Amino acid sequence: MENGYSIGIVGATGAVGQELIHLLYERGFPIRELRLLASARSKGKTITYKEHSWTVEEATPEAFDGMDIALFSAGAGITKSLAPEVARRGCVVVDNSSAFRMDDDVPLVIPEINPEAAKEHQGIIANPNCSTIVSLMALYPLHREFGLKRFFASTYQAVSGTGAAAISELENQVKALVNGQPVVKEVYPHQIAFNVLPHVDVFLENGYTKEEMKMQNEGRKIMSLPDVKVSCTCVRVPVYRAHSVSIQAEFEKPVDVAVAKAVVDAFPGSELCDDVERLCYPMPIDYSGKVNCGVGRIRKDTAFDNGLSLWVSGDQLWKGAALNAVQIAELLHERGWVGVSA
Ligand SMILES: NC(=O)c1ccc[n+]([C@@H]2O[C@H](COP(=O)([O-])OP(=O)(O)OC[C@H]3O[C@@H](n4cnc5c(N)ncnc54)[C@H](OP(=O)(O)O)[C@@H]3O)[C@@H](O)[C@H]2O)c1
Repeated sequence: MENGYSIGIVGATGAVGQELIHLLYERGFPIRELRLLASARSKGKTITYKEHSWTVEEATPEAFDGMDIALFSAGAGITKSLAPEVARRGCVVVDNSSAFRMDDDVPLVIPEINPEAAKEHQGIIANPNCSTIVSLMALYPLHREFGLKRFFASTYQAVSGTGAAAISELENQVKALVNGQPVVKEVYPHQIAFNVLPHVDVFLENGYTKEEMKMQNEGRKIMSLPDVKVSCTCVRVPVYRAHSVSIQAEFEKPVDVAVAKAVVDAFPGSELCDDVERLCYPMPIDYSGKVNCGVGRIRKDTAFDNGLSLWVSGDQLWKGAALNAVQIAELLHERGWVGVSA
């Protein structure tokens, strides 16, 4: 690989797509050619980043001929039909949607946790759910030390997790409310400004939402822990960027808070932010645009015998989506798990 890869970003006009452009350049990914794709609505639009400028193309199967890696962030619907077509053309897809995450032949990868899984790819690699990634960046090092048995999680999810339109909705609702104007609701079923919604994604038969079940289903697959039990409540909060999660976890072995703090801090992609005497704990405002997830409020849980209670904040647009996808591309490049076109 001398001159870099031909890369495509599908969903380049969206919230995650914009971060993918930024991170590919800022992390120095070897790019020979970058092409930006989206729906027919965006065809012909111009996107600029620093000295670069692109005309957005429509994401048709033919557009991927000769491309090496396609980073998808365009939603599960279009991805289900388009990604297999793209993979068939010899281009490796790294997908941010939920379309293929639980498929047996699709690796679900967090590079700090299960990099080897990516080696088995058959053309599609899935990026896990954003709240799941942020939570596992704290839980996985604790699991390695104490053996994870089960956990409860309550999320505090930023509006940018819903995409570009939701960021505008929060902004417009705040403006309307401070000016005494009526609130317009288009993205969320209820007012999100100055409110919290205990509802992320669609409701299922069991009363949980799809997003809540991802924490257990995807967590099991990523950590190779088929029996781990998870009960999760997902909440949308009027925060622009970075998700936070309150976690109560039970372990097989007795826990030690000092050891827990040390293993979390030593884990790549996580950092300890835990000094309550100085009022230091992770907050979304401090973890937006940060590579690491912050973990704090680590304490012995009062309800579980071998339990820890903790709090984690992480940028869901970065580690929960674009950064994790670029890290997967870096892994493919470093280990030679992707071909390169002439
Ligand atoms: N936002 C997050 O924090 C986050 C985190 C993890 C995973 N994800 C996942 O990433 C994906 C994108 O999320 P987002 O937040 O970036 O959403 P977004 O801001 O709404 O952007 C959606 C993007 O998808 C494109 N798109 C829609 N329909 C398409 C089609 N038929 N063909 C090609 N492109 C199409 C849009 O293009 P147009 O502009 O042309 O409509 C736009 O570029 C979703 O699957 C989401 O679940 C998001």
